[in-house]
Amino acid sequence: MHPSKDLEPGFATRAIHAGDAGDPHGALTPPVHLTSTFTFDRVADGAARFAGEQPGHVYSRISNPTVDLLERRVASLEGGEAALATASGMGAITSLLWTLVAPGDEIIADEALYGCTYSFLHHGLARFGVRVRHIDLSDADRLARAIGPSTRVVYFETPANPTMRLVDVEAVSTIARRAGATVVVDNTYATPVLTRPIERGADYVVHSATKYLGGHGDLVAGLVVGPAEGMERVRLEGLKDLTGAVMAPLTAHLVMRGLKTLELRMQRHCQSAGRIATWLERQAGVARVHYPGLGSCPQRELAVRQMAGFGGMIAFELEGGLDAGVRFMDSLQLIRRAVSLGDAESLVQHPASMTHSTMTAEERARHGIAEGLIRLSVGLETPEDLVGDLDSALAASRLRAA
Ligand SMILES: Cc1ncc(COP(=O)(O)O)c(C=O)c1O
Repeated sequence: MHPSKDLEPGFATRAIHAGDAGDPHGALTPPVHLTSTFTFDRVADGAARFAGEQPGHVYSRISNPTVDLLERRVASLEGGEAALATASGMGAITSLLWTLVAPGDEIIADEALYGCTYSFLHHGLARFGVRVRHIDLSDADRLARAIGPSTRVVYFETPANPTMRLVDVEAVSTIARRAGATVVVDNTYATPVLTRPIERGADYVVHSATKYLGGHGDLVAGLVVGPAEGMERVRLEGLKDLTGAVMAPLTAHLVMRGLKTLELRMQRHCQSAGRIATWLERQAGVARVHYPGLGSCPQRELAVRQMAGFGGMIAFELEGGLDAGVRFMDSLQLIRRAVSLGDAESLVQHPASMTHSTMTAEERARHGIAEGLIRLSVGLETPEDLVGDLDSALAASRLRAA
């Protein structure tokens, strides 16, 4: 059955087909255009393409047909006008922010952020005359009090890495827009399956596509989604000239392969993580569990309003702090000790010594990242096996403490 022409196809259909204009040979899978450059029939054609007067590709640092298909697909999934693929999530964040800000501008960022994003803002951009202030954006009133005429960008993750704190996209976007600031949301944790920030008022979304969008732990990639005009600037200034962090065509092919199962995978990640978070909270020796789907989560009402599911990430602390956490993580057999997230394999890591080690201990304390916090990316394995592994590791860590 063909979907009605008036109705937009559903999310899973778009994740598989959006942007595909068909292949002249009838290939089901779009070809991977492994080319650095594109030929012109005549010099005048090259000049016209460079001038933007003739459609077509010029050079793969600017655009490439395989990468272009991925960009159209992700723009459709996020509900944005255009997208730009980059070599990594950090490539997406840096290409966008270098385009948006100039010396003298201010960025207001949430307190809880991925460690390298924090470093780029705080230790990087700040050196070039951009003022960066961190406030708790989970309380939108604080933004209303802090925002001023020099605030150019309001930046946050929801849920945030690693604390799992949520930000109300609508409330923050309303305040930012009124003040003339641009809202950028890192949607890596939620993915467009669970939250679509642009539909809630944000201007731009960034992704580490290394995570759920790719989904198989075999690539590093990023994406920016936003308004068509702004995205053209990000492509021609931020990406082409400033960072050069271009996505390779083969990576674009792999991300599109991942996207085909994104909705299905997110359903399983959410189901298993919900079950594990509930189980963890009841275990002796577990001090705190941070997961938006738990009844104990102070932001549950916002999670229900803003998210179509509670995601696959959990953060928790053990009684006995860091020492207990290290004993526990070293005792896991099935769940792998590794950074990154959103893969089929369940992964556990220690933010203070790994993903957030670029922050000082004092910065982590100020930003709510406990030294003993454990981050778990719940994968696609049989949930009973994951619970079994966690149970054995909790028991082993208690024994080794005795
Ligand atoms: C929330 C978030 N944003 C951005 C990044 C950076 O992405 P990448 O590692 O693809 O550069 C990460 C990486 O872990 C992340 O977790």
